[in-house]
Amino acid sequence: MSDRYAVMGNPIGHSKSPAIHAAFARQTGQDLSYTAILVEPGHFALAVAEFHQAGGRGLNITVPFKQEAFQLATALSGRARRAGAVNTLYWGDQDRLQGDTTDGVGLLQDLTVNHGVTIHRARVLVLGAGGAVRGVLEPLLAESPVELVIANRTVVKARQLANDFACLGNVMGCGFDELSGRFDLVINGTAAGLRGAVPPLPTTAIDGQTLCYDMMYSDEPTAFIRWAQKQGAGKTLDGLGMLVEQAAESFRIWRGVRPDTRPVITGLRAGALG
Ligand code: ATR
Repeated sequence: MSDRYAVMGNPIGHSKSPAIHAAFARQTGQDLSYTAILVEPGHFALAVAEFHQAGGRGLNITVPFKQEAFQLATALSGRARRAGAVNTLYWGDQDRLQGDTTDGVGLLQDLTVNHGVTIHRARVLVLGAGGAVRGVLEPLLAESPVELVIANRTVVKARQLANDFACLGNVMGCGFDELSGRFDLVINGTAAGLRGAVPPLPTTAIDGQTLCYDMMYSDEPTAFIRWAQKQGAGKTLDGLGMLVEQAAESFRIWRGVRPDTRPVITGLRAGALG
């Protein structure tokens, strides 16, 4: 029987992870199956235990269970501990449940490798101060931007997050109305786009040299991407590359081989991978 993997979340119906991992498995000749499992709130730990009892080897975890996965893991990677979230689970030595996070690596890989973006000495603005943002701060700061500003609707959360990561680089937190000057890179990590909204940024934050990156992905351009294009941003990118790159890193952790992400990103863009 093939080795079993799955993604757990709620909702999960539109997840692209099964198509991505099936493509990785074909490409690398790995014998595995990967399904999407809808988990009801309050049933996460039970669902993970049942999956393991049925022979499951590893899981991706998505909204809203990343913090619960963090609590459930018996052992955590350093980056998962600092991110406060887990998106990759697997059973290691003596069946211990290991937790890791690949979201931050996925974003950095997409920005720096796929799109040749230089973060070193750049002025970076990150919008939002929730779990998604916490998960990408460490690898962003590791690139030594000249400044990383976290702006959030609830200002105290931005300041707290900046405080938590201050030992890793030049990071400060503020409200949207406190922003000044232009940025080289603006990353949207808010959930505003779910309601078609865009955080209230001053128009001076973006110019023709600014790259605007939305960590969200949908088949149509997101509200943030449309807004950034209207503001005259130099370049806009959505989160499809990040999605595929975080999946590739999970696949590497589970299987010891890193798939080539380019054909998978291209296939998804073309609608050829489901
Ligand atoms: P996630 O784990 O996906 O990051 P979260 O922890 O609920 O989810 O965080 C959602 C983020 O989107 C928060 O930064 C939130 O701002 P608040 O901290 O003020 O709640 C932000 N957000 C959600 N809706 C927003 C909106 N309409 N405008 C601006 N920011 C919004």
